[in-house]
Amino acid sequence: MLPLIYLIGSVTFIIGLKMLSNPATARKGNAIAAGGMTLAILGTIFLYRHHGQGLHNYGWIMAGLLIGGVVGLVSARRVKMTAMPEMVSLFNGMGGACAALISIVEFEYMTAVIFTGAPVRMQLVIILAGMVIGAVSFAGSVIAWGKLNGRIKDISFKGQHIFNLVILAVILLLAVVVTAALPAVTVILFVVILLLSLLYGICFVLPIGGADMPVVISLLNSFTGVAAACGGFLYNNPVMLTGGILVGSAGTILTILMCKAMNRSLKNVLIGSFGSPKAAGGSREQGAYKEITLSDTAVIMAYARKVMIVPGYGLAVAQAQHACHELETLLEARGVEVKYAIHPVAGRMPGHMNVLLAEADVPYEKLLEMEQANGQFNTTDVVLVLGANDVVNPAAKTDPASPIYGMPILDVENARSVIVNKRSMKPGYAGIENDLFFQPKTSMLFGDAKQVLQQLVAEIVNSL
Ligand code: TAP
Repeated sequence: MLPLIYLIGSVTFIIGLKMLSNPATARKGNAIAAGGMTLAILGTIFLYRHHGQGLHNYGWIMAGLLIGGVVGLVSARRVKMTAMPEMVSLFNGMGGACAALISIVEFEYMTAVIFTGAPVRMQLVIILAGMVIGAVSFAGSVIAWGKLNGRIKDISFKGQHIFNLVILAVILLLAVVVTAALPAVTVILFVVILLLSLLYGICFVLPIGGADMPVVISLLNSFTGVAAACGGFLYNNPVMLTGGILVGSAGTILTILMCKAMNRSLKNVLIGSFGSPKAAGGSREQGAYKEITLSDTAVIMAYARKVMIVPGYGLAVAQAQHACHELETLLEARGVEVKYAIHPVAGRMPGHMNVLLAEADVPYEKLLEMEQANGQFNTTDVVLVLGANDVVNPAAKTDPASPIYGMPILDVENARSVIVNKRSMKPGYAGIENDLFFQPKTSMLFGDAKQVLQQLVAEIVNSL
């Protein structure tokens, strides 16, 4: 019975992951995978047998499930969308800690059976891998969480990367020594490896710029997956192995995709300085920009044939997604075709804009991916940029000196006119000026995105 449950669990993970790739099916996919996970956990608790015996300590197990479940549920319900990367980081850290704890327990167990001459060398390698990777993921994720919520500052010193490499080399060396020393058990060295792994996790994440954290979190997420897969090997548990491998590979793919979408190598993210004041080039003199009034914006949009909305981080900060959907339905009711152009790294986490707009019930067929949107700007009358900046910065195409040079962007300047809503002329995440704001086609509409959208709706309803 248990193998069947594990098979069902593994299949639900794969189906769930597949469904997560589309906004229309994402919720259902999440629920299916969670259902499979619940089944696998309950199956293990009640049906697992070792030498004919089931698990013990049901009181402890249920208390742990209850406390963890309540804390997870309450915090996930309360979290704000913009604080989601923090929460993901913390949850990921807990996964890493679990994987490391499994390794510690298994090491302790191994020390008891080792003298019976069991073939344990391979098992020890897996235990060490699970512990090192899990501990790095735990410590790194906690630091990432602290940096994202501003509790921990970026700390870097000269030669830090060399220092990190040395820690890593010592960890590997000690792991080889511990494995080679078998059948002698070197508990002290094992503890030293654990402490060094925690130190490495801290030192690895500390110098990385706070705004680069989503990429790092995704990388740490893949580490946690690999550490959990090690647990699956140790327990000969197929569902844990499948889950771990899926998380490991999905995290790796996501990390690569995010780096690609920002046109940066992973090395550059890990040791580069994108987003830091040092990299903030492009402060050269710009021409004048022109402003547009609310009523002019309302007229242009209400009489347009096709409008493309470009959402960005500012829309999320302003929580303006509902007002944005209201404007869209209002325009559509007047016969205007409205679409959304979604840049893959708009916002601060993967899929940020999709989730935000789905929350406001924007139909997902209205969301165009970057390539699709770029093919439609030349037939668009008005582009309304809402709290987006870097993802529409033409410097990515024209200025080789720019830190975002080479990053694919939304070609909004191909539309007939562009209206940019933000609160000031301040730069976005990359810390650079945006030539788009100074182009003749572009007009600036200053103000908080939510207020501006609400006023626009009122203007169209009352005056047009
Ligand atoms: P940004 O370039 O950060 O620009 C956001 C703009 O929103 C700012 O210029 C800001 O200007 C404006 N803003 C802030 N609050 C606002 C409000 N209440 N109302 C209206 N506007 C407001 O955002 P983007 O264009 O979405 O680009 C995302 C950036 O994040 C990219 O550089 C990307 O590489 C990076 N990044 C993304 C990810 C993922 S996976 N999405 C991960 C890591 C890094 P004012 O201050 O003048 O209002």
